[in-house]
Amino acid sequence: MAAATRGPRRELAELGAWQRPLRAQFPIVAGAGGDGGDGSGPPRAAYLDSAATAQKPQPVLDAVTAYLTTANANAGRGSYPWANHTTARVEAARERVKAFLGDPDPRRSSVHFTGGTSEGLRAVARDWLPGLLADGDEIVVPFGDHRANLDPWLEARDLLARQGVGISVRALPCQEGSGDYDPAALAAMAGPRLRFVAATHVHHVYGADMNVHRIREAVGPDPVICLDAAQSVGHQPVSLAGLDVDFLVFSGHKALALPGTGAVWARGARGPAFVPGGWQGTPNTAGIVSLAAALDWLDAAGTDRIGRWTSALASVLTDGLSRMPAYEVLGCRTSLAADTAVQRRGSIVTFRHRAIGSQDLGFVLFSHGFMVRCDDHCQAGPGPEGGSVRVSLHVYNTLEEMENLLTALATLQ
Ligand SMILES: Cc1ncc(COP(=O)(O)O)c(C=O)c1O
Repeated sequence: MAAATRGPRRELAELGAWQRPLRAQFPIVAGAGGDGGDGSGPPRAAYLDSAATAQKPQPVLDAVTAYLTTANANAGRGSYPWANHTTARVEAARERVKAFLGDPDPRRSSVHFTGGTSEGLRAVARDWLPGLLADGDEIVVPFGDHRANLDPWLEARDLLARQGVGISVRALPCQEGSGDYDPAALAAMAGPRLRFVAATHVHHVYGADMNVHRIREAVGPDPVICLDAAQSVGHQPVSLAGLDVDFLVFSGHKALALPGTGAVWARGARGPAFVPGGWQGTPNTAGIVSLAAALDWLDAAGTDRIGRWTSALASVLTDGLSRMPAYEVLGCRTSLAADTAVQRRGSIVTFRHRAIGSQDLGFVLFSHGFMVRCDDHCQAGPGPEGGSVRVSLHVYNTLEEMENLLTALATLQ
C-alpha cells in the first residue's frame, strides 16, 4: 500500500492540493461548521463516522434538486415526459453502477436498487438463495462481520428448514491476528455440497481489506460468492473484474449518495437469475439520481486517490495510538512496513481505552468536537466488553483533524 511504503505524512502532503478543493465541495463540513442545525454541536466539529453514512458533495445535492424541480415523477409507469425522463434516469443509473464497478459483462448482469446493504443482502437471501439450495447443501458465511451479512443467511436456513430442506451454515474461517479470511481453511471446506459463500470486502470494525479475491481460488469455480461491499464501494477502487464474485451488494449512502440508497449487482451467469420477489413499489427515484451523481463525482475525484488519502489519515491515527499505552487498536495488528503499524487498513480505525468505556470516551471526544461511533458497531458475535470507538474517514477529513484527535486522546492517558 502506497501510504505504508512512503510514509503517510508524505502521502498526505503530496495529495493535499488535490484534496482541498474536494473537501470544499461538502457544505456540511466546509461550511458553517456543522453545528447540528440547532446549535447542538460544537463549532467546526469533525465528522469521523463515514462508515455509518457519508456526507454529500454539492454536485450530488444539485443533481437531486435539479431532478426534483424539473422532472420528478414515478418510474416505469406513466408515458408523459417527466415519467419517461425518470424511467430513463433509473435505467441509466443501473448502467452507471455497472460501469463504476468495472463490470466485465454488463449485458448479462443486473442491478437492483435497494435502501442499503442490509436490504440488498436480505433480498439475495430471501428471493434468490432458496432457489439454489437442496437438502444437504452447505453455505459458508461470516460470523464476525456485520450482522447484515449474517442474519439474512440464518433466516434463509430457517425458512428452508420449515419447508423440509435442511442446509448447514458454516463459519467463514479467519486468521488469527490479521483478521483476514483464511483461504487454506476455506479450501478445506470446499466440496460438491458447498454452494454459496458470503464474505465482506472491507471489515467495518477493523478496516481490513479481507483479501476476498482469494476466495474463488479457494472454493473453486462452482460456489456462488456474495460480497458485502458496504465499506469498499466509494472508499477505494472496486473492480468486479478482479474479484470474481456473483453478487456485490453496497450502500449508496456510504458512497456519497442520499440516505436510503444502495444496490445489488448480480452477475447472472450462475444459478437462477436474480429477480427481487414480490411487487416492487415506487423506487426511490431521487435517491437513484443521487447515486448516479455520486458515482460520477467519485470517478472524477478518483477512488484510488480517495483510498490513498483515507489510508494515510488512518495510518497517522493508528501510529499515534500505538504510541499511547492507554489505548488498544483492534484488529490488523501485523505490520507490512517498517515505518507504520498499519496493515492494509482502509478508512477505518477502531480502538478502545483500557480504563474508560467507549460511551464515556465518545462523550468526551464529542465535547472536543469529534463525532465518532462508540458501541459494538452492529458486529455479529461478541466484541470487547464496553464496546470500542470507531473513527471512519472519507475524502473530506484532514490531517489537522487526526492531529487534534490524537491531542485530545493524549489528555486521557
Ligand atoms: C460491512 C457492512 N455491511 C452492511 C452494513 C449495513 O448497511 P446499511 O445500513 O446501508 O444497510 C454496514 C453498515 O454499517 C456495513 O458496514
